Amino acid sequence: MSKSFALIPAAGSGSRIGKKRPKQYLTLAGKPMIHHAIHTFYRAPRIAHIFVILSPNDELWSQYDWSEFSNKLVVLNCGGATRAESVLNGLRAMPSTVNISNQDWILVHDAARPCLSSKQLEFLMDEIADDETGGLLAIPVADTLKRGTMHHRAINTESRENLWQAQTPQMFRYHLLVKALSQANASQITDDASAVEALQYHPKLVLGNTLNFKVTYPQDLALAELILQEGEKNCTP
Ligand code: C5P
Repeated sequence: MSKSFALIPAAGSGSRIGKKRPKQYLTLAGKPMIHHAIHTFYRAPRIAHIFVILSPNDELWSQYDWSEFSNKLVVLNCGGATRAESVLNGLRAMPSTVNISNQDWILVHDAARPCLSSKQLEFLMDEIADDETGGLLAIPVADTLKRGTMHHRAINTESRENLWQAQTPQMFRYHLLVKALSQANASQITDDASAVEALQYHPKLVLGNTLNFKVTYPQDLALAELILQEGEKNCTP
């Protein structure tokens, strides 16, 4: 029976949010942002361990108390220059700490998506459990899409038919993810599924929830805080 592990890359600097502190450590609902994602995976009975991938230069992690998660949490200071590198370095380092088989599932989740609900996580795991390829949470694009010039003038309108916005978690078998990310151009990909797609697989798009958005811009912080405080993160998919 295959096991499931969460892998949270948290080695980014979060420059777009315009704060000095890397965004995974910005305070949200009284906790550092990454605490919320760890907590959701921690509560999931099917998740055996949670791996957090930090920058080798990280000086902030140790300033917080993570002991409530200690029986499931493994911290690896092997982050790389890009998200893909951080994930791959983490995947390669995992077997030195726990017993992992090629068929085990890895759920890669951005530290910057603190509003993932337990229901969404369970839904993804149910939907992917019997899938040959794996897949990800995603949402059909709702807005009209414009292609713009460098000077912010609209050139034309792109069809949004069959377009999805990728979220995380992205859930793949250990061996497929290592193979895909090893062959990927790490500076060009922004998620794990695109590396898998490059090997001609078609990851399953599992309907996500807009509340599981990626905190990127300063105004996102207040919205995430509201969602976490109101407990709306537990709404159904
Ligand atoms: O920058 P962005 O929001 O796309 O980052 C997504 C996730 O990837 C974040 O959790 C961030 O900390 C992580 N990341 C990383 N190593 C990098 C860049 C980003 O682990 N070099």
